[in-house]
Amino acid sequence: MERVLAGMRAAADPTRLRLLSLLSRAELTVSELTQILGQSQPRISRHLKLMCEAGLLNRFQEGSWVFYRMADRGEGARLARFVGDTLKADDPTLARDLERLEGVRAARTEQASQYFREQAAKWHEIRALHIPEADVEAAMIEAIGAGSVGEVIDLGTGTGRVLEVLAPRAVRAVGVDMSREMLSIARARLDKPEFRHVQVRYGDLFNLDVEPGSFDLAVVHLVLHYLNDPAAAVFEAARLLKPGGRLLVVDFAPHDLEFLRESHAHRRLGFTPEEVAGWCRAAGLTVTATRKLPPRTANGRGELTVVLWLAEKGLEAQGFRGRAKAEQGSV
Ligand SMILES: C[S@@+](CC[C@H](N)C(=O)[O-])C[C@H]1O[C@@H](n2cnc3c(N)ncnc32)[C@H](O)[C@@H]1O
Repeated sequence: MERVLAGMRAAADPTRLRLLSLLSRAELTVSELTQILGQSQPRISRHLKLMCEAGLLNRFQEGSWVFYRMADRGEGARLARFVGDTLKADDPTLARDLERLEGVRAARTEQASQYFREQAAKWHEIRALHIPEADVEAAMIEAIGAGSVGEVIDLGTGTGRVLEVLAPRAVRAVGVDMSREMLSIARARLDKPEFRHVQVRYGDLFNLDVEPGSFDLAVVHLVLHYLNDPAAAVFEAARLLKPGGRLLVVDFAPHDLEFLRESHAHRRLGFTPEEVAGWCRAAGLTVTATRKLPPRTANGRGELTVVLWLAEKGLEAQGFRGRAKAEQGSV
């Protein structure tokens, strides 16, 4: 009861209600909120701090930027959502705020799509080498199976496509990436009411500030080949899973397209099924399914085969850390 009261007290102010109305629709930086509300930054920051302390909002840092969004767990989150949903957009002050929010969104989308336009040519070059993404996505869905996927984390989410695909079946979905440009595209893409339970954050997948054992499904889609230490990435992903949780890795089979190193920063030229299965084993996971998706125009050399690995964390997966560390050297 005390937390609910604290939350109600924290929300009981006209400026804070305006902030809740805006943050129920988008995650925003202090400077964006300052721009929309037309109040000074210290003032807005003080209101936000109070609402974070009361559990109504979450604050997260992305480099030099600080984002605010509705809390997604606990009594504070439920209260914030209730207040946000109750505030009617026909109130003249709230309506003006929402109009300005649209302006901020449009500027953000334009910035993101400019970056995407610049990168698009490079992306197409790689995509042309493997089967269409829609087929890869269909295979991912088939591998995961029907029903809810629970709480999902997408490591190296890029433009957030995997989140978009899994969101309808997720209770909560979090995407993490180290590229601000990618995240700004993901944010623009996921800035829709049906993705309220989806969020993206800046973060290094090797060093995430995430409670261990909190996700039902972790996805690492076309990321491992960029990494210095893919085994450690699998290990980190496993650490984030609840007992019985699953890891889906999607990457390339071994290939000899050396130019991908030069022009696309690939560090590894694909992985063997045994290699990934070994990393999974070392991390306390068991591979339950592996599927190869050869290129349509398969003529042997020069094309990329996409491979899916689905692995499961044992139900008694406690204390695997020491075991995994010991095994890592032998993989
Ligand atoms: C080819 S993109 C794949 C994006 C997305 N998974 C997809 O398939 O659409 C690889 C992504 O991994 C991200 N990445 C690379 N190293 C990372 C790290 N250490 N932590 C978080 N993200 C990383 C990159 O910024 C990039 O967005």
